[in-house]
Amino acid sequence: MNADLLITNIGQLVTCASGGRPKRGSEMLDVGLIGNAAIAIKDGGFAGVGRADAVLSVWRSEEVIDVGGRLVCPGYVDPHTHIVYAGDRLNEFELKIKGADYLEILENGGGIISTVRKTREASFELLIEQTRDRLDKMLTCGTTTAEVKTGYGLDTETELKMLQVIEELDRSHAVDLVPTFLAAHAVPPEFKGRTDEYVDRVCGEMLPKAWSWYQSSGFSERQTPFFADVFCEKNAFDLIQTSRVFEIAQNLGFHVKAHVDQFTNLGGSAFAIEKRAVSIDHLDAISDIEIKELSRSATVGVVIPTENFNAGKTKFANARRMIDTGCAIAVSTDYNPGSAPCPSMPMAMAIACRYQKLLPAEALNAATINASFAAGVGDLVGSIEVGKKADLLIADAEDYRQLMYEFGGNQVTTVIKSGRVVIDERDRS
Ligand code: NIG
Ligand code: FE
Repeated sequence: MNADLLITNIGQLVTCASGGRPKRGSEMLDVGLIGNAAIAIKDGGFAGVGRADAVLSVWRSEEVIDVGGRLVCPGYVDPHTHIVYAGDRLNEFELKIKGADYLEILENGGGIISTVRKTREASFELLIEQTRDRLDKMLTCGTTTAEVKTGYGLDTETELKMLQVIEELDRSHAVDLVPTFLAAHAVPPEFKGRTDEYVDRVCGEMLPKAWSWYQSSGFSERQTPFFADVFCEKNAFDLIQTSRVFEIAQNLGFHVKAHVDQFTNLGGSAFAIEKRAVSIDHLDAISDIEIKELSRSATVGVVIPTENFNAGKTKFANARRMIDTGCAIAVSTDYNPGSAPCPSMPMAMAIACRYQKLLPAEALNAATINASFAAGVGDLVGSIEVGKKADLLIADAEDYRQLMYEFGGNQVTTVIKSGRVVIDERDRS
């Protein structure tokens, strides 16, 4: 049979194949390794995957990439990012080095709120330009799908502007995007001290308008999910406010996820699991009982080691215990200007291995197949399996453990998105 592209001479093919669900507990040790492998790609999807002799006896193509014995793995899926924003937080970076606390900075009108001011002022075009640069960096590091949140507008107009930026970049950039509406990210300055009134605005106006935007967007046409998210935390939104947002959002048709237990345990994890959140994210302060509940649920736990690293913390979410308890765990960069200015999934994996004691296989599944389920697109991407989108990367490595072992550089030489070469090592030399 004819393929559009054959990838041959793969020394190690890491498929992360899962048969249609996230991997949990000890399943995360299995990366679906195939030695001496080949891949056939047709119509933007994987058509043949396996031992080279088996694949090449069925598939032919005029287009062949011989990877010279190197490693091929799925494109990374980043399940939690805040990349649509203007400005930077360089002053805050210095303040934190000198000992300032993230939640105190937020309480004093800095942090997220300082990015809100800049993002409100920014034109659509400026946001596109700056966010495109961030997506370029992510793609260079091997990310082929990313969830992207709003949450630096905190008024209807700017939140919708951010959604439009996400839609335009999904259309025009190689990285596929999944939109998340995070109007409940922080209390905007004009509502300071009146959080409940802001939640009234989120529930009564912003969520319904965002939902109508979604219904006429390309995302709904392609059945990409639309998420609502809440920052359930001290100085942000408490459990009751979180539950109000969830209720309205779920009634409208949103899928939900939440920032929970980043600093303080407000009961957000237990609540979000009960409400069938697709993912719960951060989890530094999650309790052992909640870890058990997570293990019995379909919710994916997203840990964000880049945030701890950026804050110079030595304590991390206990992902080791979560996996040992049988949870499905994903990792993300949380790429944002404040708590994690990091575009690199390999960096997130490298930290997860060292500080959260994930083995390389667990980290790789967390960054690919489990991350795809955390972003609600597990049936489309996240593993190299026949029928899925042909998203993969070729790395300058012979063993997948090298991807986490080495850090600070970039081992990705080629990225293929939907069967098309979008990063090519030859362009760089
Ligand atoms: O995931 N926790 C809240 N939101 C982001 C930080 C965003 C920011 O600092 O600008 C997070 O860490
Ligand atoms: Fe976040």
